[in-house]
Amino acid sequence: MKIRKSILLLTLMLALSFVLAACGNSNSSAETASAADETETVTEALQTEETAEDVSEETTEEPETTETESAETDADGGNVLVAYFSYTGNTKEVAQIIAEYTGGDLAEIQRAEEYGDLQEEAEAEILDGVHPEITVSVDSIEGYDTIFVGYPIWWDEAPAMIATFLTENDFSGKTIIPFCTSASDDIGNSLHIFSELCPDAEIAEGLTANDLNDIEPWIQGLGLME
Ligand SMILES: Cc1cc2nc3c(=O)[nH]c(=O)nc-3n(C[C@H](O)[C@H](O)[C@H](O)COP(=O)(O)O)c2cc1C
Repeated sequence: MKIRKSILLLTLMLALSFVLAACGNSNSSAETASAADETETVTEALQTEETAEDVSEETTEEPETTETESAETDADGGNVLVAYFSYTGNTKEVAQIIAEYTGGDLAEIQRAEEYGDLQEEAEAEILDGVHPEITVSVDSIEGYDTIFVGYPIWWDEAPAMIATFLTENDFSGKTIIPFCTSASDDIGNSLHIFSELCPDAEIAEGLTANDLNDIEPWIQGLGLME
C-alpha cells in the first residue's frame, strides 16, 4: 500500500514537472515573440528616421545657381553709356534725360584745365585738331556696347574735348549715338569726326536736342527705351 502511494506521488510529481516545463516554454516563446516585435519596431523606427533624413537632405540641397542669368541681366541693364561734355548745362540736361529713358550710365567729360580765353582757345583747338587733356567720370567704356556722345555745337563743330574722348577710347565694334545742343545749328556738320576717329564703330543717327520733346521719340526709334 505504501509503495502504491509512493508510485502515485512520483507520477503526480512527474506530471506536475511536465506541466511546469510546458508553461516555462510557452512564456519563453511569448518573450521571443515580444522581442521580435520590439526588433521590428526599432527597425521600422530606424527606417523612418533614414527616410526623414533623405527627405531633409533633398529639401536642404542648394538651389541651382542662376549666376549666368543675373550676369546676363546686368549686361542688358547696364550696357548703355551716356557720355557728354557740357559747358553751361544744356547738354548735361539732355544727357540726364537720355540716361533716364535708356537706363544707361552717365559719364561726364571735362577739360582737365579751364580755358583762359574760351573764344580764342576753343576755336583754335578745333581748327588745329588739338586734343586737350580731359577727365571722364567713368574709368572705362569697355563694358558698354552702346555709347551716346553729347556736346554743345561750337563754331558748327564738336568741342575738341570730344575728339580727345574718341581717340583715347577703343570704340571698335561699339555703337556711337551722337547728340548735341546749340543756339541754332544742326548736328550735321559736326558728325564727320566720328567716322574719322572711330572707323570701326557703328555710328547711329544723331539728334540736335534743342527741343526736349524730340528726345523720347528718338530713343524709341533707336529701340533703346528701357
Ligand atoms: C564758344 C561757343 C561757341 C558756340 N558756337 C555755336 C555755333 O557755332 N552754332 C550754334 O548754333 N551755337 C553755338 N553756340 C551755342 C551753344 O551751342 C549752345 O548754347 C549750347 O546749348 C550750349 O550747351 P552747354 O550748355 O551744354 O554748354 C556756341 C556757344 C559757345 C560758348
